[in-house]
Amino acid sequence: MTDQRPPVPLFDLKRQWQEVRADVDAALERVLATQQFILGPEVAALEQECAAFLKVKHAVAMSSGTDALLAALMALDVVPGDEVITSTFTFFASAGVIHRLGARPVFVDIEARDFNLDPARVAAAITPRTKAIMPVHLYGQAADVDALRAAAGKLPLVEDCAQAIGTEYRGTPVGGLGLIGCFSFFPTKNLGAFGDGGLVTTNDAVLAERLLDMRVHGMRPKYVHNFVGGNFRLDALQAAILRAKLPRLSDWIAKRRAGAAHYRALFAAAGLDGIVRLPEELGGRGHTYHQFVVRVPRRDALREHLAKREVGSEVYYPISLHQQPCFASLGQRDVFPEAEKAQAEVLALPIFPELRPDERERVVEEIAGFYK
Ligand SMILES: Cc1ncc(COP(=O)(O)O)c(C=O)c1O
Repeated sequence: MTDQRPPVPLFDLKRQWQEVRADVDAALERVLATQQFILGPEVAALEQECAAFLKVKHAVAMSSGTDALLAALMALDVVPGDEVITSTFTFFASAGVIHRLGARPVFVDIEARDFNLDPARVAAAITPRTKAIMPVHLYGQAADVDALRAAAGKLPLVEDCAQAIGTEYRGTPVGGLGLIGCFSFFPTKNLGAFGDGGLVTTNDAVLAERLLDMRVHGMRPKYVHNFVGGNFRLDALQAAILRAKLPRLSDWIAKRRAGAAHYRALFAAAGLDGIVRLPEELGGRGHTYHQFVVRVPRRDALREHLAKREVGSEVYYPISLHQQPCFASLGQRDVFPEAEKAQAEVLALPIFPELRPDERERVVEEIAGFYK
C-alpha cells in the first residue's frame, strides 16, 4: 500500500522564501541600484544589527562560517606547533581550519547529554602548546561554558556558533561568551543567506580591528599589507538578504522551539519512551533547535524506512573527526566512547520553522510504525 501523503522534507527553504520574498526583493533592488557588491554600507549595517542582536560590541562579516573560524584563529596567531582543543563530534570545518594553519587539532570527547565538549576532558587535554579552546554549540544548544571557562583558565575560548545563532547561555547570547564567536549563514542555518556567509563577534576592540583587516589581506591603508590575511569578504547582496531576514529570527527560533515541544508531546503519546531518546534541554543552555536530534536503536534501518516513505532525516555526524582519514596520522591522546556511541545512534528529524503540525505527526507515526 503506497502512502498518498506528500513527502516531509528535512528542510524546505522555499517556504521561508515566500514569507520574506517582498522584503528580500526590495533589499536586492536596493543593492542593485548602487552596483556596489563587495562590503560597503549594507555589510556595515548588517554588522551593526548583528552586534545589537547578539549583544556584543563588535561583529565582522565574513565570507563563510569556515572563513570566520579561520580568520579568528589567524587573528589569534595560531601557527605551526600550536594546539587547539575542539570536539571530535562536529562538522569538519571546526577542525579543518586548525589543521590548515599548521596547528594540531586536539580532539576531545563529548558529554552524552548534550553532544558538546566534555569540560573535564578538555582540562586533561591542555598542554603548554595549547593556544585556544574551541567549543561548538552543537545542534543549537550551548556548551557548558562556565565549566569550559574554568578548565581554560587564561586560554581563549573561540566559540563555534555556526549552529547556534540566537542561543542564550544563562541569558547571554553565544558569540559573546568567549574571546571570539564564529557564525555561519549557510542557507539552511537558522539565519541563512542565499549563498555562503559568516560572521565573527568579539568584545575586544583591538581584535575587531585585526579581523576587519584580516578579511582584506591584512590591508590598511589601501595597498599596505601589515600582515597576511585573506579574501574573507561578504557580498553586499548577501548582507542585504540577511538584513531582511534578521528581524524574523526570534520568531523563527520560537517556532523551532514550539515544533520541538510538539514532537515531545507526539513521542510521549506514541508510547516510544525507552526506544526514542529525545534531545535533553539542560538548565541555562538555551536550545534553539538548529537540529532536533534523537537517539534511536537500529538507526540506519530506521533512516532507510523513513526514506522509503519520503520522510527526510539526516545523520550529523556519522564519522567523528578523530576517525577521519585526513587526521589518521595525527594520533590522539583522548578516547572517544561517547562520540562513537552518538555517531551510531543520532538522527536529525525535520524541525524548520515552517514545518506544519500534520507533518510532525507523520514523522512520529512513521517512526512508531517502524518500532511497532
Ligand atoms: C559546527 C559548524 N562549524 C562550522 C561550519 C562552517 O560553516 P560554513 O558552511 O558557513 O563554512 C558549520 C556549517 O556548515 C558548522 O555546522
